[in-house]
Amino acid sequence: MTSSSVFAGLSPQAPDALLSLIGAYRRDPRADKIDLGVGVFRDDLGATPVMRAVKAAEQVLVNVQPSKAYLGPEGDIGYLDLLKPIIFGADVSHEVFGVQTPGGTGALRLGCELLKAAKPDARVFIGAPTWPNHTQILDQLRLETVTFRHYDQRALRLDFDALMTALETARAGDIVLLHGCCHNPSGADYDLAQWAAIAETVARKGLTPLIDLAYQGLGLGLEPDAVGMRLVLAAADDALLAYSCDKNFGLYRERVGALYALSRDADTLDLAASNIRALARTNWSMPPDHGAAIVRVILESEALTTQWKGELEAMRTRVTDLRLRLAKAVPSLAPLVSQHGLFALLPLAPAQVARLREDHAIYMAGSGRINLAGLTVTNLDKFARAYEACLQGEPA
Ligand code: LMR
Repeated sequence: MTSSSVFAGLSPQAPDALLSLIGAYRRDPRADKIDLGVGVFRDDLGATPVMRAVKAAEQVLVNVQPSKAYLGPEGDIGYLDLLKPIIFGADVSHEVFGVQTPGGTGALRLGCELLKAAKPDARVFIGAPTWPNHTQILDQLRLETVTFRHYDQRALRLDFDALMTALETARAGDIVLLHGCCHNPSGADYDLAQWAAIAETVARKGLTPLIDLAYQGLGLGLEPDAVGMRLVLAAADDALLAYSCDKNFGLYRERVGALYALSRDADTLDLAASNIRALARTNWSMPPDHGAAIVRVILESEALTTQWKGELEAMRTRVTDLRLRLAKAVPSLAPLVSQHGLFALLPLAPAQVARLREDHAIYMAGSGRINLAGLTVTNLDKFARAYEACLQGEPA
């Protein structure tokens, strides 16, 4: 590289550790390899099929979509409106504005850019561990973070007291980033009483919640996965919610998300909306259409909605069942049974994670996070044996 190159002043960036697992797993020639890496649902054959409701909606679009002309910065308004009752319930206490975004990441990025513009000195309270992209986005935007322990990885237990202690130090206008359900990476969610306690603190201290809801329907079910976080939204004057349909509609690579801003005051919401539109314009101008159009077509049809909910419920049941099976095979993992969603964070050191990959072709995030949906009736016993041998430090 010549020193006059415009790129010469850049520092090299490490590849994203989680996404690198996709290629590493693909390149591994071992026939009995197990992919517990990136968070996609898999069936018992290890496949991630397109949902039948999605295929049917795609057919509808092929037959009737009249145009591919631009829809505007908000994207598909029908999509945004039809999701609202699923996310917020029938009675919303706030004015709500939504924009369609490329995946949940697009929504988080937009939301954090808005917060940075609105309140550059706000601190973002965030549990550790969290989804790595949360901290990557916040760090890139130079938003100050205050970290508290979300999860005790050794004891496989939520550390709720750490959250409550941290929030007592928050100032009015500070942000608290919360996973709406199916915590990524731990699977450890708040129960209703804990959500109510967070809501009380948010209201008392004047905090702004930023809720990341990327796995609705994969924990306890569509409605129970949302009731807790709704208490927190209802308690706040203003809030942001980043949503993803990538998992619960199985639309991953279509990148289907939404950012919703909530405010008690219509003028305040208009101000936020105008800024969100302007930020979206300079990021992606207008969002890609196809995935959101699929979700709209499904939610516009009673029959397709029923089909989608049935398929989602079958996915949820499979993951819940895998938790039970794994806990039976590895008794020390019993706490996983009361946790939710695709992920569990195992008490493994990075060297043990590497050993499982090298010696057993078992792929998981370096943190010890597994995607339970990568387990099958046929590979679960192999995984359980390798895991226990690894914990005991025996040669496997
Ligand atoms: C995951 O956590 O595995 C998924 O959300 C995929 C991603 O983009 O990180």
